[in-house]
Amino acid sequence: MKSFHAPTALALVIAAVGLAACGSSSSEDSSTTAAAPATTGTSTTTVASAEGEKVFASNCAQCHTLSAAGSTGQVGPNLDSIAPDEETVKAIVTNGRGGMPAFADVLTDAQIDAVASYVSDSTGN
Ligand code: HEC
Repeated sequence: MKSFHAPTALALVIAAVGLAACGSSSSEDSSTTAAAPATTGTSTTTVASAEGEKVFASNCAQCHTLSAAGSTGQVGPNLDSIAPDEETVKAIVTNGRGGMPAFADVLTDAQIDAVASYVSDSTGN
């Protein structure tokens, strides 16, 4: 008895796994394809803006919305709407203001420059 059932069950499992794999791999394919141009765009930008993107992701994204960074923080103002220029970002990041912490002791001058140009460039300033 067992020797008849086992192969049947195995065949069903293989069929089910095969179907599931087909379904998930086709949906992954489309999301991978959609993400690919963004990845390519990032890697072709300058080293400075890649650095700025990194600094933003680990220091600013939790509080600020910036579509270029894919961040949705709500503590501080939406940087897409404000579109601050580079000098403004630099001054505020260095010295802080109100609920915005100062980063003079956290980030290097080069990192502050990088994140300032990243924010101003990616919001069109
Ligand atoms: C703890 C949350 C928090 C973090 C982290 C944070 N901010 Fe802010 N940010 C704020 C708040 C709150 C304000 C509003 C300050 C005010 O004017 O009272 C602000 C204001 C700003 C402004 C000024 C917008 C204007 O009104 O012109 C800029 C630019 C800015 N932040 C950029 C950044 C950048 C770049 C980083 C990362 C280096 C960062 N922030 C990290 C909370 C944060």
